[in-house]
Amino acid sequence: MPAEIIKVWAERLSLVDIWRAAELIRAGQLVAFPTETVYGLGANAFDAAAVARIFEAKGRPNTDPIIVHCADEPSEEVVDWSQLPEEARRSAQALMSAFMPGALTLILPRGRRIPPIVTAGLPTVGVRLPAHRVAQALIELAGVPIAAPSANRFMHTSPTTAQHVYADLGEHIPLILDGGATDIGIESTILDVCSQPPRLLRHGGIPLEALQSCLAAAGLPERIEVVKGYAPPEETMPAPGMFLKHYAPRAPLTLYYGEDDTQLRATLYAEATRLAAEGRVGLLIAAEDAPFLSELPNVCVEIAGSLNNLTAVAHNLFAALRKLDDQGVRRILARGFPMRGIGVAIQDRLSRAAAGRVVRL
Ligand code: TXA
Ligand code: MG
Repeated sequence: MPAEIIKVWAERLSLVDIWRAAELIRAGQLVAFPTETVYGLGANAFDAAAVARIFEAKGRPNTDPIIVHCADEPSEEVVDWSQLPEEARRSAQALMSAFMPGALTLILPRGRRIPPIVTAGLPTVGVRLPAHRVAQALIELAGVPIAAPSANRFMHTSPTTAQHVYADLGEHIPLILDGGATDIGIESTILDVCSQPPRLLRHGGIPLEALQSCLAAAGLPERIEVVKGYAPPEETMPAPGMFLKHYAPRAPLTLYYGEDDTQLRATLYAEATRLAAEGRVGLLIAAEDAPFLSELPNVCVEIAGSLNNLTAVAHNLFAALRKLDDQGVRRILARGFPMRGIGVAIQDRLSRAAAGRVVRL
């Protein structure tokens, strides 16, 4: 039976509906739910058989570890704090008080009740405290931490609406809690504090500079090593689950970026016009580009947002890519956005979606 979708409002929580979802979690079933980043596909993190269902539903290889979501500071059952060296523990505490709940995932030593399937056999566990009220209520009512990857088919663009989840997983799960479009629109930042210096495994909702300032303000070393996660799927990954091709729409995407907007627009115009002769083309652009790139024959345009509002671009990015796919485009040409703040995460997702088809102008 296809998934049931229940509308839930963060401002006016219907605990009856969330209770139903929590009962499914306790019974070892899967529930998709909104977070402030993207939708998650949740299962009881203490239940290996339930977590196995996540891998099955997503078509995800079991070498890719899953983040554990908690409502509060994780207990000893989830994180083995005793395994963390003193300075790393102080860094973790400082980051937790600054950014949790929020779009930060910390890699910490795995606690005794987290089964190996959750962490792909690693001795560490990714922990996140979502800021979304629906996610928090679900975890609280379930009474267990919830293991949840993004609620998309493996390698596909992450879902930012319940409809995106339904399109990818509707046939595989019983229930989707629909909290509307997610706020941030890009996944959490992942920081491994088990290594020294801490390693940034994924850019995301919290910019790197914010993490560094937090550590500096707490009197801790602010050096963070940025892991370049661009391994093709078949090769050894620099960090688990960090595939080159990821977050991808169905149509092959090419990313064009550079400082000169005039040159960028001229290139997008020429390439879109050339490719449109062979089939429908999708253009992912900024609001400022629209006057130069609208109404080309056989070209669908999606505007991610203004170059001056990267928060809006992040919010719209994945939905815009899905819309282009829905219009049946055969190729997508995307422009790069300024690489500051959350723009670094935007560039990361677009270049992974491009899987190597990246052109620097
Ligand atoms: O914003 C988010 O993080 C969303 C929402 C639902 O919370 N979740 C999410 O999960 O993006 P997922 O599974 O799509 O991506 C999580 C990534 C994995 O692919 C892996 O690279 C990394 O987190 N990860 C998880 N546990 C890890 C661990 N113990 N060590 C290293 N990396 C880990
Ligand atoms: Mg994912």
